[in-house]
Amino acid sequence: MDKRILQKYPPNAENLLFALHDIQDAEKENYLSEEDLKNIADYFNLPLSKVMGVATFYSMYSLKPRGKFIIRICESAPCHVAGALNVINEFINVLGLEKVGETTKDKLFTVETSACLGVCGVAPACMINDVVYGNLTKDKIKQIVDDLRAKGGSNV
Ligand code: FES
Repeated sequence: MDKRILQKYPPNAENLLFALHDIQDAEKENYLSEEDLKNIADYFNLPLSKVMGVATFYSMYSLKPRGKFIIRICESAPCHVAGALNVINEFINVLGLEKVGETTKDKLFTVETSACLGVCGVAPACMINDVVYGNLTKDKIKQIVDDLRAKGGSNV
């Protein structure tokens, strides 16, 4: 872990969420390792249990390695009605996964679900890292995955 990331923040508890976010973002596998959590707890002078509690409470943090692209599929009511379940199944199918929460063997993709992404007008929707994709169809999902695979430098 690059401790310079922590030093951007005064060690006050109100900066904890930002620091967790930045450290996770900087990790190659998009997660917070045990070592990260210990370093963060030391820096903020907080018990490790408190930092663990925060990291496990918010779904945006992960304590296990994830892919380069995190696909968050909205499951809230408008997306659900517009076919979110089909979207979930299609991503899982295209990526060769068995269920939500898994990461592809090439470590490129992790599929997760999410509450409303604030783009209900284009339901069903998902967010991949910081980019929102709406009006998802089977063809569009395949195209998105193909484009990201090409971007990820993978030859899968
Ligand atoms: S319900 Fe899916 S974006 Fe709002």
